[in-house]
Amino acid sequence: MAMASLAKVAGISAGAVLLALNIPHIPHLSSQRLTAFVGDFPIPDYPFALPFFRGSDTNDTDGDTDDTDDNPSEAPFVCDASHTYRAEIVSLEPLLIYIHALVTPPEIASILRTAEPLFAPSQVTKNGRQQRTSDRTSSSAGLPRDDGAVRCVVARARGFLGTLLRDDYDEMGPPQLVRYTAGQRFNVHHDWFDSPRAAADGTSREWNRIASFFAILQDNCTGGETYFPHAEAVAPSSPWGGPSWHGGGGVGDDGDEDGKETDSLSPGPKPLWREHEDGGLAFRPVAGNALFWVNLHANWTGDVRTNHAGLPLVDGLKTAMNIWPRQYRPDT
Ligand SMILES: *[C@@H]1O[C@H](CO)[C@@H](O)[C@H](O)[C@H]1NC(C)=O
Ligand SMILES: *[C@@H]1O[C@H](CO)[C@@H](O)[C@H](O)[C@H]1NC(C)=O
Repeated sequence: MAMASLAKVAGISAGAVLLALNIPHIPHLSSQRLTAFVGDFPIPDYPFALPFFRGSDTNDTDGDTDDTDDNPSEAPFVCDASHTYRAEIVSLEPLLIYIHALVTPPEIASILRTAEPLFAPSQVTKNGRQQRTSDRTSSSAGLPRDDGAVRCVVARARGFLGTLLRDDYDEMGPPQLVRYTAGQRFNVHHDWFDSPRAAADGTSREWNRIASFFAILQDNCTGGETYFPHAEAVAPSSPWGGPSWHGGGGVGDDGDEDGKETDSLSPGPKPLWREHEDGGLAFRPVAGNALFWVNLHANWTGDVRTNHAGLPLVDGLKTAMNIWPRQYRPDT
C-alpha cells in the first residue's frame, strides 16, 4: 500500500484497537488461571460510520477512483476467485464451525504487511476509560476495510454467513488483528456486548455481534490454543470406536502448500483440536484456518457457552484476524 493511503488508514484506525470484549463471571469454571480477573467492560467499539461492506469485485486497494496515491510498483491485490475453503461442524450447542483455509497465503502476507505498523497494546475500556488489563496482554491492529486483501477475506466471510445478515441493513463490522507473543493470553471472555450498541448512523437502531470469525494468520508458536470451556464435540468419540474426531486433514492444516488432501474420513497427522483437561475444546492455531461461532441466542441474549480464551503462548508468535458481524436488533 502506498504511504499516503497507509497514513490515511493509520489515522482512522487509531480508535479501532479498542476491542469490544466483555469479560464475564464464569462461576462454574474451575480453573483459577482463567477466572483470576473478572470485570464487566462496557466498551466503545468503532467510533465511525460503518457503511455496509460490498463485495470483492474491485481491484482498487485504496477505495478511491484515481491511482494517484497507489504505488505503481505494487500491483493491487486481486481476490482469488477460484479459492475454496472447507467447513466442518464441531459443536451444535453452541454452533461452532471449523473452517479450513478461510484465508489464503497471499491474503495473509498482504494483510500482515498492511497491519504491521498499526499494532498497539490491546485495550479494553472500563468505567468509560481505556485501559490495559492483565486479562488481555496481546497487541491489536485495526484493519483498513478498503485494503484489497482485507476485502477479499471479509467478502468470503460475508458469503459464509448467508442470510444471517441482511444486505444493506446489517454490517460486517471493522476487522481487527490480534497478536500474541510468549506468555501473552486473553482470559475467558465473550465477544457480544452485554448492552446492544447504538447505531453510528444516527438512527435509533441497536446492534450486537451476532457471530465471530477468528482466523489464524501466523501460527509459529507453541501453546496459544483457542479454548472454549463449554463447547462439546458433536460426537465425543467416533462411531467405529476409534479416537475422537479432531478435525480432518486438508489444505493448510499442516502448514504445507502442496494442496494434498489427506483422507477426509481420518484425522490429519496432528489433531486440530482436543478435549481440554478442564472440559471443553482447545483448538491449536493453524495459519489460514478459522473458527466461527454464533454469539447470540434467537432472543438476542448472549450465549455463555461461546465464552472462550486465548491460552498463553509458550513461545513464538500467533497472529489472528477477528471479524465480528453486526446484526441490528430485529425490532429496531
Ligand atoms: C433467551 O433464550 C435462551 C436460549 O433459549 C434462554 O436460555 C434464555 O433464558 C432466554 N432469555 C430470555 C431473557 O428470554
Ligand atoms: C518462529 O519463532 C521462533 C521463536 O520465536 C523464531 O526463532 C523463528 O525465527 C520463527 N520462524 C518464523 C518462520 O517466523
